[in-house]
Amino acid sequence: MNDKALKEEILKLKDELHVSIVAHFYQKDEVFELADYAGDSLQLAQWAAKDANPYLIFCGVGFMGQSVKILAPQKRVLMPKIACCAMARMIDVEYYHQNIQLLEKAGISKEAMVPVTYINSSAEVKAEVGKMGGYVCTSSNAKKIITKALNSGKKILFVPDRCLGQNIAKEMGLKSCIIGDGSDPKEADIICYNGFCSVHQLFDVEDIAFYRAKYPDILIATHPECKVEVCDASDFVGSTSQIIEYVTKLPQEQKVAVGTEYNMVKRLRKENTYVLSSTKPECPTMNETTLEDVYHVLLSIKEGRFENEISISEETRKWAHKALNRMFEV
Ligand code: 13P
Ligand code: SF4
Repeated sequence: MNDKALKEEILKLKDELHVSIVAHFYQKDEVFELADYAGDSLQLAQWAAKDANPYLIFCGVGFMGQSVKILAPQKRVLMPKIACCAMARMIDVEYYHQNIQLLEKAGISKEAMVPVTYINSSAEVKAEVGKMGGYVCTSSNAKKIITKALNSGKKILFVPDRCLGQNIAKEMGLKSCIIGDGSDPKEADIICYNGFCSVHQLFDVEDIAFYRAKYPDILIATHPECKVEVCDASDFVGSTSQIIEYVTKLPQEQKVAVGTEYNMVKRLRKENTYVLSSTKPECPTMNETTLEDVYHVLLSIKEGRFENEISISEETRKWAHKALNRMFEV
């Protein structure tokens, strides 16, 4: 089947089977165009959990589909591809506890820290955070959540993204460190796990210098998963939806270079918009999902096979829900 025929089949099956499709902004154009709803991690979880259809096809990465299942366990959530975010894969329950033990050895008791996990983590890691009274945050609300968590008077253990943790600390005038970087974690307000996004590591201050030299009036917008020095040198730092809002409100003639995933940047604005990199910053896992995959997963619903369905044990879901819910309460 060609793309046009595939799309028609998908839309027909979707209506017949009462299925909603959501897509993250980083999805390929042809998949993105099919979605009933597109958004950043937070918006997708909120929208999908409230949606009335019994079946949801989530075009994104694994932790995003899991977030919907945690919030709306009655819904059958399927993914065209079980693609796992590279950053989320950098931490599991064992690593999480090993890092806590390292901090205990450095003189910080478990009771003296409150964990905050970026939403880019597995349901199991979120559950461990939930058990310790901690929070989930996203790139759009990290500052609010950290402000709330700091009210406890404890240190923040921030997992898994060292960049988001360091960027928020800098913005709030707080001290941060990375576990194992040789500094004393007792000196830090935000102690970061050593995880990162390989895609957002591609953006460098040299890329910013290049664009500023070429177009002196250009604006630079980056995602907080970028390195601290890159965010520091940017005019705007925000989540994917915040970047879209920022760029679309600029006058058409205003040039802007954007430091986030390629699919989203090239869809942003036809003119005067540049990818802040000399390489193509594509997220390999986000790009795994194809139209064929969406069609096959729909067929599996029709035939009762439910391929790539997200399932989470009730015990894990219950604790992960506590951490997610604490975020929504803030
Ligand atoms: P957003 O929540 O900003 O969409 O970010 C998700 C993500 O994985 C960015 O790399
Ligand atoms: Fe994960 Fe980075 Fe891809 Fe976002 S861009 S889904 S953080 S690997």
